[in-house]
Amino acid sequence: METVDFDKLKPGMVLARDLFHSDGRLLLSKGLQLDSTHLRVLKIWGIGTVEIEDVSIDSSPSTLEEISPAVLNEAEDLTKKHFSHANVDHPFLRELFRICVQRRAKQLALQKPSEHNPGAISLEKTPETPAKPPAHVSIPKKDLASVLDKIVSLASLPRIISEIDRVISDPRSSAIDVADVIRKDPNLTSKLLKIVNSAFYNFSSRIDTISRAVAIVGTEELGSLALGTSVLEMFKNIPADLVDMKSFWEHSVACGAASRIIASYKNIANTERLFVAGLLHDIGRVVIYLNFPQEAREILLHAQRSNSLLHTTELQLLGFDHTQVGAMLMQKWQLPVILEQTAGYHHQPMLSQYPLEVGIVHIADILVNTLMIGTSGERSVPPVIPEVWTALRFSPEIFTKIVAQVDRQVAEAIHNLFGDGY
Ligand SMILES: [Fe+2]
Ligand SMILES: [Fe+2]
Repeated sequence: METVDFDKLKPGMVLARDLFHSDGRLLLSKGLQLDSTHLRVLKIWGIGTVEIEDVSIDSSPSTLEEISPAVLNEAEDLTKKHFSHANVDHPFLRELFRICVQRRAKQLALQKPSEHNPGAISLEKTPETPAKPPAHVSIPKKDLASVLDKIVSLASLPRIISEIDRVISDPRSSAIDVADVIRKDPNLTSKLLKIVNSAFYNFSSRIDTISRAVAIVGTEELGSLALGTSVLEMFKNIPADLVDMKSFWEHSVACGAASRIIASYKNIANTERLFVAGLLHDIGRVVIYLNFPQEAREILLHAQRSNSLLHTTELQLLGFDHTQVGAMLMQKWQLPVILEQTAGYHHQPMLSQYPLEVGIVHIADILVNTLMIGTSGERSVPPVIPEVWTALRFSPEIFTKIVAQVDRQVAEAIHNLFGDGY
């Protein structure tokens, strides 16, 4: 066992003792293998030193040159599998492929061979992939009307969300009105203050009150953030036995953060709106997992066994997909049209009346699938729609910088939205 300073910690190291916060709470358990998310969270918690199982710290490779060609080849093979549905001849996906091979090679080099985890899939209770796809899967097709019935039976939107939406969409509302509505919910207030004081914003001085947050961040921006945080609160503790919901919301928060970062390169006024759009883009899947668990299990298994994209499998086996369900939910809740459009068209942004915003979420979703930050059930990198990429006019090289920003912001955003348990 060795005591290692925080700045010498590296992914792959194993905790030799339970790690406690100064107030006595257990943070991480003995035996846990640290990954980059743990390291970022340890930084947020201000942990100075950690007891690590005997490892040769200096033997951990920090550059690609130190990684053996065999490991690099393995990383490339695994990445090819992960990109089996992605159009890797496209410049954007070619760049993501390159970034992904590098990240995976570094991860593999830090793991013992027996611990390699190529998929990093967080789906629970899904058996090993068999060699051959099943002969057929038979699920009675549902019609969207029956889904709507199920959605109607979902818990209705908390009043605070409708109030926030009303106050931010009313041009006569002032910053004080927005602050007054948010203050009614102390839990929401403390979450928003944590977020505005985090790396997400990087303000130099501390923001202690909601009125100051509204003044500095902006009325619409803070209102959007409040809306997304409240919807997340509704769903975050839902027990769904098919899917690891923590992983689902990691994917969602990461997509929200990535959408917000990408939007900041396009001079979009309210980037928080894009955070919420990314946060809720796959919410239709939660409805499917909760209301059609049997069918959802078949869909997940079929997609896995036949190596198909999940949303096309949903359509094939169920007769509709999560994008239609998500859009219907947003409509039922009368949330802003942009959220309905993003939930409905993030796999086909050119069909949307907001191709720029929905296109940004499309790119962000592909990015976080590539980086494997959580999963909403999809196991592969989805293909990019070339027209969306062309319309956004990004250069692929900028994504090295965007990935670094996503890495820096996501762990903290997850911690702020979900608390210490994450
Ligand atoms: Fe999706
Ligand atoms: Fe997604």
